[in-house]
Amino acid sequence: METLNPVVTPTVRVSRLFDGLEHEIYAKLDLLQLTGSTKERTANGLIDELFATGQLREGGTIIESTSGNLGIALARQSVVRSVTFIAVVDENANQLALDIMKAYGASVDKVQTPADGNNLAARRTRVRELLAEHPGSVTTNQYGSPANPRAHFQSTMPEIIAGTGGNLDYLFVATSTTGTLVGCQQYVRQHGLATKIVAVDSAGSVLFGGQAGVRRLPGLGAGVLPELAAGAEPDLVVQVEEIDMVRGCRLLVRREGILAGASTGAIVAAMGQVLPSAPAGSRVAFVVHDTGVPYLKTVYNDKWVRSTFHAEPEESTQGSETPPGGSCE
Ligand SMILES: Cc1ncc(COP(=O)(O)O)c(C=O)c1O
Repeated sequence: METLNPVVTPTVRVSRLFDGLEHEIYAKLDLLQLTGSTKERTANGLIDELFATGQLREGGTIIESTSGNLGIALARQSVVRSVTFIAVVDENANQLALDIMKAYGASVDKVQTPADGNNLAARRTRVRELLAEHPGSVTTNQYGSPANPRAHFQSTMPEIIAGTGGNLDYLFVATSTTGTLVGCQQYVRQHGLATKIVAVDSAGSVLFGGQAGVRRLPGLGAGVLPELAAGAEPDLVVQVEEIDMVRGCRLLVRREGILAGASTGAIVAAMGQVLPSAPAGSRVAFVVHDTGVPYLKTVYNDKWVRSTFHAEPEESTQGSETPPGGSCE
């Protein structure tokens, strides 16, 4: 059935993002997936695998830990595949995402942030408890299932190649489970491509080493190493502070008219660091992982940004036509 499948999203050239850079930069618009994020692909791949291996049938129950987007995508998949879905979320998940999951008929189970701030560990513990409480239920296991990277090997990367004409020097992806990264990396290696993959992570994430720290914006980073990360071998890792994610988001929306979420803002910030020293004319692609609509009360809200980060939401060189007080609220 056609509606079960993720859609092929457009890949567009962006030319206004950075001043003075003579690169060809392409944005893969996964915010146009039916549930607004790349996780539409992941959810489809994970559920396909469970059905194919007989672990899940119509009428069954799936349980998954999610910071929002995978939950929304699984909630939709659960409707069209006639299964029940319990989403385990934490206090960082935004209310709009939870309301969307509920609108699709999912149950939402929220864990409290533990004293050490490790929400991911708390969510995964809760998933294990719920699996024990619901006999016959299964978890889609986005953190360890090979079906996660396979979805990106089979769809995300081939679409990026088709949409850009290939010959990419750089691909920037944000990292959470590392499924997108690992799938794209497998494609690059199997096809002998010279594309360098840049993993964009959050400051305070343990994905590529370092200590777990407080992270407020959902979508990227991890407080506990997911199993899939063992296969993640990016050419470069850039860790981005949350205020720079905000500024990256705002640059993208003001210069290119693309309203994206925090992880895409992180990618924009990472590109701003890496690309000035790349050879002129480099061919670059990045994934616009999700829509910015659920971030209107955070990333795009000047008051929230100032009170949370004690910093200005836009760098003084950006958005100079915005009057003091800004117009992002
Ligand atoms: C908003 C967002 N950021 C980042 C990612 C990359 O996450 P992962 O490493 O789990 O593939 C996704 C994946 O769908 C996403 O939806």
